[in-house]
Amino acid sequence: MSDAASTGRPEPDPRGEILVTPGAFADMDGWHTRVAELRRDNPVALVELDGWPRFWAVTRHADVLEVSRRADVFHNTTRSAPGPDVQYDVLDAIGIKPSSLVHIHGDVHQKHRQVTNDWFKPAAVRRLQPAIEAIAAEFADRMADLDGNCDLAADIIVPFTLRVIMKIYGVPESDEALMLELTQGLFGAADPEYLGDFSDPLTLITDTVARFQTYFDAITEDRRAKPTADLATVIANGVVDGLPLGDNERLWYFIIVATAGHDTTSYALSGGFEQLLRHPDQLAALQQNPDLAGAAAEEMIRWTSPVRSFMRWAFEDHELGGTRISKGDAVLTSYPAANRDPDVFERPMHFDIFRPDADRLLSFGLGVHYCLGSQVARREVRTLLSAILDRVASIELAAEPAWAESHFVSGVKHLPVSYTMR
Ligand code: HEM
Repeated sequence: MSDAASTGRPEPDPRGEILVTPGAFADMDGWHTRVAELRRDNPVALVELDGWPRFWAVTRHADVLEVSRRADVFHNTTRSAPGPDVQYDVLDAIGIKPSSLVHIHGDVHQKHRQVTNDWFKPAAVRRLQPAIEAIAAEFADRMADLDGNCDLAADIIVPFTLRVIMKIYGVPESDEALMLELTQGLFGAADPEYLGDFSDPLTLITDTVARFQTYFDAITEDRRAKPTADLATVIANGVVDGLPLGDNERLWYFIIVATAGHDTTSYALSGGFEQLLRHPDQLAALQQNPDLAGAAAEEMIRWTSPVRSFMRWAFEDHELGGTRISKGDAVLTSYPAANRDPDVFERPMHFDIFRPDADRLLSFGLGVHYCLGSQVARREVRTLLSAILDRVASIELAAEPAWAESHFVSGVKHLPVSYTMR
């Protein structure tokens, strides 16, 4: 008798491998075509791969929504960021236990989230707007110095989002190169371009976490001695249940905001810009009516879905979309798949800044782990978009873009454009 027959589980679906294959994310059109078939035929698909925990691939909007909302059933754990077993075994062996907000659950999570919650409330984020605008204007000006040709992703967008997160943290611009290297080391480890001299992604990740620790330990020491009004001070002095955040929890708090706050937003901008350049009619509408920037930002974030998935773990049996999930099973929520679900979005495979259903986007997740920085991200996307379109008279693709190969956070990493300034 097959394993499937003896356990009552369906047969594994080999098509699910695409959800965790780094290289597959370098061809998102092909990825979406194949995932659309999976979503249609087998929306909660069992996936079994060598070296990975067995997981259920969840590709329908309604099911991703349910997993996200039912935090009582589906818990975040130290293995919430999808990765092969060896990744976690090595981190365990060297004593690094991922403990950021996305790795913890329940009351503990709520208490840790509370440490920075005020910082990310709409009123606080509104106060950041002048700084975001100033940084956006600086990078739009930088385009003028680049003689009508640049890599919009690497030259403008990435340093822009990085500068914003550095500003929020209150750390100097001189640390930007290091921070860029470290965030790419963590999220882009599988991409050959970011691997550098490292023999394999795992060694790079391990080295990166150690370097993050050295960097943030020094900042912690400084902000404890000389508190300021920045976010680094809030995390360095964070208290839960009357006690300072543990060393490991503090390190991962710093890491999650630095990484989640940077690569994600830059991929939304680069991939969103790519689509605007491929749709000159929408670009022209946006240039004529800057009030459309908010709607355009939403569509850019839906279209790109830079966070590709998270892994949740079932703490009790549960029926999801007609499929029985057993206690102990892993469930992978695919945000790009949910964001192209034809049951929710009209013409989901079309980029459309005028879409009526933009508010259904799931790029930021939902429920208790809903993206803490969604308001910052939205402001960054629409502010840089407006600043660039305000400064350029015309802009077009100069060559095909290049895509990052990563199954966790990825998107367009190089976007060659040519343009004329006003
Ligand atoms: C377009 C940009 C972004 C996207 C697509 C994105 C996406 C996400 C997603 C999918 C989650 C998990 C949600 C869930 O499990 O339900 C998340 C969590 C998180 N994000 Fe973002 N994010 C973005 C930008 C940012 C920014 C700018 C920051 C910080 C400045 C940030 C900080 C965080 C943090 C701290 C969490 C963990 C929240 C928790 O577990 O309680 N993100 N984000």
